[in-house]
Amino acid sequence: MQVFEKQFMIGAATAAHQVEGNNIHSDCWAQEHMVHTSYTEPSLDAVDHYNRYEEDIRLMADAGLNAYRFSIEWARVEPQEGKFDEAEIEHYRKVISCCRENGLEPVVTLHHFSSPVWLIRKGGWEAETTPADFARYVRYVMERLGGELRYVCTINEANMGVQVAAIAERYKKQMMAQLARAQAAGDSVNSEVQMGINLEKMMQDQKAIAEETMQVFGVSKAECFTSPRTPHGDALVMEAHKAARAVIRAVCPAIKVGLTLSLHDIQALPGGEAAAEKDWDDELTHYLPALAGDDFLGVQNYTRSRYDASGSMPAPEGAELTQMNYEFYPEGLEHVIRRVARQFHGDLIVTENGIAAADDTRRVAFIERALAGVQRCIADGLPVKGYFYWSLLDNFEWQKGYAMQFGLVAVDRANGQKRAPKPSLARLGAYAGK
Ligand code: BGC
Repeated sequence: MQVFEKQFMIGAATAAHQVEGNNIHSDCWAQEHMVHTSYTEPSLDAVDHYNRYEEDIRLMADAGLNAYRFSIEWARVEPQEGKFDEAEIEHYRKVISCCRENGLEPVVTLHHFSSPVWLIRKGGWEAETTPADFARYVRYVMERLGGELRYVCTINEANMGVQVAAIAERYKKQMMAQLARAQAAGDSVNSEVQMGINLEKMMQDQKAIAEETMQVFGVSKAECFTSPRTPHGDALVMEAHKAARAVIRAVCPAIKVGLTLSLHDIQALPGGEAAAEKDWDDELTHYLPALAGDDFLGVQNYTRSRYDASGSMPAPEGAELTQMNYEFYPEGLEHVIRRVARQFHGDLIVTENGIAAADDTRRVAFIERALAGVQRCIADGLPVKGYFYWSLLDNFEWQKGYAMQFGLVAVDRANGQKRAPKPSLARLGAYAGK
């Protein structure tokens, strides 16, 4: 096993909503508590990282990690529009200090999926006012905490809404095709036999969802960060990033700024080249002009996706799947880094990479194979500056709830939130240069 240079960041990543608990002013919290919710369960006190961050940071330090990526929660810092909560800033100041005391470089993300409810009431991530709102929050945070930071990610997976829109579109097409086939075969459109689809009920649900959304958010469609994004909304996300970057440059010029993107290792089989190229353009290429002034790009990879002449392909027959049903494919990270480095000319930081698995030996294998790929990239001169495993803790995996085990550390939520480091934590730490 080859150890990295001392300055290479070896860390773990978390996001506020997924670990802290009681993020009550956020859109996610509101959605989790709706009758018509797509969340499996509510986050509630999550894994209580808000109160246990010292223990969690110490666990990382003891295992040899030298960096920690976490997010600051907008909904906590600005629970009502224009009303900031100084106590929350002090909370994050303590988290940053705790990192430093334990020899960990804090890498802060300013927006990781969750947003304040008030922002959604104003039209959320499709509203013209959002970039300026975001910039005002970023200024507030930077003026208070910026002096203590060296790396800031403005927005996590800025391309997530576009990916969700593409999946929704693909799903819609499949449903339409199924309906057409069923109609041609003489089935009733509303029959529940059509792969469990009951159009009438779906329409009723749509109506009920719109009504409840109106009650909760004052709009009939909640444009959260992970809602399907329109091209206009996508451009606004970039505006928000650029506005935040300008604020950070003005307040703390020494900070290295970037955003992060969800990047699949997109592979084309014969006939799938055009679809694969389009997908990569959606995931990275069309953002490059907006990223031109960034210091680094946060690369987030979990698996590969393949296209052939008939479109997106399932995982190969017999492939190992993670709890998320993704193909276990740690080599994807190296492929993505090499591809990104040809197009983006700044530093690269792997801000997320990992698997959800009950068997920790699979996580160890994943990390070893992924890091071997990172080391080959560095040996070839690519500017990779850090690797953050997702995630430090078994945590709240958004709509899928607590069943997904991404963590280097298990958490027993039923028994006082007890932490139990897994062997993968020490394994990852062993890669950090001393
Ligand atoms: C997100 C995380 C999420 C992880 C695993 C990334 O898309 O940034 O918040 O938990 O993937 O699905």
